[in-house]
Amino acid sequence: MAIVEFKNFSWNYSGYRSKVLRNINLSINKGEFFGIIGGVGSGRTTFCSAIMGLVPHLYPGNIDGELIVDGLNTEKSSMSDLSTRVGLIMQSPDTQLTGAGMNVEEELSFGLENLGTPRKEMIKRVKKMIKLIGLESFKYRNPFELSGGQQQKVAIASVLIMQPEILVLDEPTAQLDPLGTTLVFNLIKKLARKGITIILNTQKIDYLAEFADRVAILNDNEIRKVGKTREVLTDINLLKKNRIISSDFTQLSNELINRKLYKGALCMTLNDAKEMISKVKRG
Ligand SMILES: Nc1ncnc2c1ncn2[C@@H]1O[C@H](COP(=O)(O)OP(=O)(O)OP(=O)(O)O)[C@@H](O)[C@H]1O
Ligand SMILES: [Mg+2]
Repeated sequence: MAIVEFKNFSWNYSGYRSKVLRNINLSINKGEFFGIIGGVGSGRTTFCSAIMGLVPHLYPGNIDGELIVDGLNTEKSSMSDLSTRVGLIMQSPDTQLTGAGMNVEEELSFGLENLGTPRKEMIKRVKKMIKLIGLESFKYRNPFELSGGQQQKVAIASVLIMQPEILVLDEPTAQLDPLGTTLVFNLIKKLARKGITIILNTQKIDYLAEFADRVAILNDNEIRKVGKTREVLTDINLLKKNRIISSDFTQLSNELINRKLYKGALCMTLNDAKEMISKVKRG
């Protein structure tokens, strides 16, 4: 069942010379882990903002077509209605923290307090969330004193605690080091298993290769391809045409095929590569 539906959707920022999203037709299913990849400045952040309703409610501009999110037409619905269904995580971890609380527990309580959630329910949800994100030993720490990866986990938790149906992540690890990146991707993987719809824009295609159900290429303001993760990420020519670098595993397997050292399919993940190497060794 589709939970996000772009129907011939186009978007023009006021005063900007051309459309930043052009004729987007795309359905994302409930519970799906959906990846977005594409070139620099191709409109991927705008795509994420549109699902949250920042486009058109925060940024002025013009929509053609429509975008339906969990039954709501984003143009006709309010941001507050949309925010009960969608949570958005952005690149920079610290700017997403409210600073309203002295510690992680208080930071997580903030949104629920604003909604007037009963205290007992709030304590229960905060406790559950701290366990889910694995920050038990940090719950009394000031969120601003945590590492980037830990801060991003707190930011994700503060969105999740509002129980959105859909989690949109716009390059959530772009500013994190490899350890922080792994922390955040492990958390996203855990969430995907719980059945939340995840829409993830990232340049880190190795992680999408491991987790995503489907991937879309958004380039030069248009959707160039939507397909099963393996179909998209092992299509070297398609990726090249869209200025996306294929994974090291795919490149390695392609090289071995070209040199006639390997006869199987192109690799996408580390596991694929391990299997390929044992086949090559066996001759
Ligand atoms: N608030 C805005 N007002 C006007 N133009 C904007 C606004 N936000 C983005 N743009 C323009 O829209 C285009 C697409 O930007 P967007 O941030 O959506 O792309 P992106 O694919 O996320 O890029 P990046 O690779 O830098 O993350 C850019 O040319 C940008 O200048
Ligand atoms: Mg962006």
